[in-house]
Amino acid sequence: MGHKILIGMQWGDEGKGKITDLLAAESDAVVRFSGGNNAGHTVVAAGQKYELHLIPSGILYPEKLCLIASGVVVDPRSLVKEMTGLKKRGVALDNLYLSPEAHLVMPYHLRLDKLEEEGRSSEKIGTTGRGIGPAYADKSARRGLRVGDLLSRERFTARLEKALSYQNAILEKLYREPVFDLKELTAEFLPLAEKLRPHVKSLPSLLWKIHRQGRQILFEGAQGALLDLDFGTYPYVTSSHPGAGGVSSGTGFGPRYLTSIIGVAKAYLTRVGQGPFPTELTGDQGEKLREQGQEYGVTTGRPRRCGWLDLPALRYAAMLNSVSALALTKLDVLSGFSEIKICTGYKLEDRITERLPDVFQLESARPVFQTLPGWQRDISGVTSFQQLPSEARHYINFIEEETGINISLISTGPERKDIIHRKPL
Ligand code: GDP
Ligand code: IMO
Ligand code: MG
Repeated sequence: MGHKILIGMQWGDEGKGKITDLLAAESDAVVRFSGGNNAGHTVVAAGQKYELHLIPSGILYPEKLCLIASGVVVDPRSLVKEMTGLKKRGVALDNLYLSPEAHLVMPYHLRLDKLEEEGRSSEKIGTTGRGIGPAYADKSARRGLRVGDLLSRERFTARLEKALSYQNAILEKLYREPVFDLKELTAEFLPLAEKLRPHVKSLPSLLWKIHRQGRQILFEGAQGALLDLDFGTYPYVTSSHPGAGGVSSGTGFGPRYLTSIIGVAKAYLTRVGQGPFPTELTGDQGEKLREQGQEYGVTTGRPRRCGWLDLPALRYAAMLNSVSALALTKLDVLSGFSEIKICTGYKLEDRITERLPDVFQLESARPVFQTLPGWQRDISGVTSFQQLPSEARHYINFIEEETGINISLISTGPERKDIIHRKPL
């Protein structure tokens, strides 16, 4: 029995929430393995829109297990708020579980995220401001607090006191900022522990049990391949490993049975935050993509930068993650363009390459475009490949030929039902 991994192939916001919700129907457990509430995953079902940040996108199915694994950094305030919001809308949370090994995002991480960004002056990353970088930094430096710590008053207080002696020194001495008070933080966080306690469970043995029972696991990626800490456009990246390689380290489920890796890519490209984006459209066409695609961040509301699809970047993401199939989303957004451009390679000094130049050369590389015919007809909600205009089918076939990867799913709208099942996954 093999399990599925679903990952973002670009700079995030590819529509992972929608595709996860779709594939969750045939899975028994949905697992978030990396990132934190910097993620914003949208699921639209029966006209209802849900914006998820930490809770896996399988949560609308009451019988599915939804697991937040140890690779995720958890802001307890944000998680409790998200849980409360879903409960109010009648979503059952009985099968939601959280790893005790997951690290906590604390208020000083949010403050440091902001201060570090301010300190970057002209080279800002454009983080989501959710404290993600500082929380992962503390995890690596072995001074982080974990969900398991939060469950014991004594342990949490002692570990927080120790953490504060370090964090407050940084705030006071380096930034000349007000410091955090131990009593105030424990008074705020210990009650949150009681809300989370019924959901805390060790996950590696649970995942193994699910596997042994022959049940299906779907691992839900956050962010995207080009935001990977090592292989993305560093330093304009996030602080975790959003790719398929992050699954085992982020969950404790070994790689042997991870057999299907589904890459989710938008039919065009967006990026929120700073960093290189060679196919970006800054004029009217970019504006048109933004409006038609409603490209505004789920987490921060920021307008997303928009541009044409970048095939070298897609090939790179596919290679890094040994992707077995693609889900192409938001094809409907491209309706109404007379021509669609697609980046097929890069010009580097005097040679052309099909590969994505490394990040040290990317700023000076020039994208090479091929122009394909567009289509005018609205294709929102189309569910069969044959019903697409020939130009749209040509666009899909072109991407498939250029990447050598099957486009198995095509999404034509935000709703669960707006999907073309083109090839088996
Ligand atoms: P994620 O972070 O990868 O889950 O993606 P986001 O939820 O941040 O952004 C994707 C946005 O596009 C959401 O508003 C979705 O509801 C929407 N969406 C997903 N698939 C489609 C599609 O095929 N067509 C259109 N028009 N919208 C889509
Ligand atoms: P989902 O899961 C898009 C980007 C930020 C910034 C960089 C670092 O919804 O696709 P961070 O707060 O992580 O330190 O910010 O990463 N970023 C995302 N962009 N979608 C996301 O998540 C993102 N999560 C982080 O905009 O450029
Ligand atoms: Mg998103």
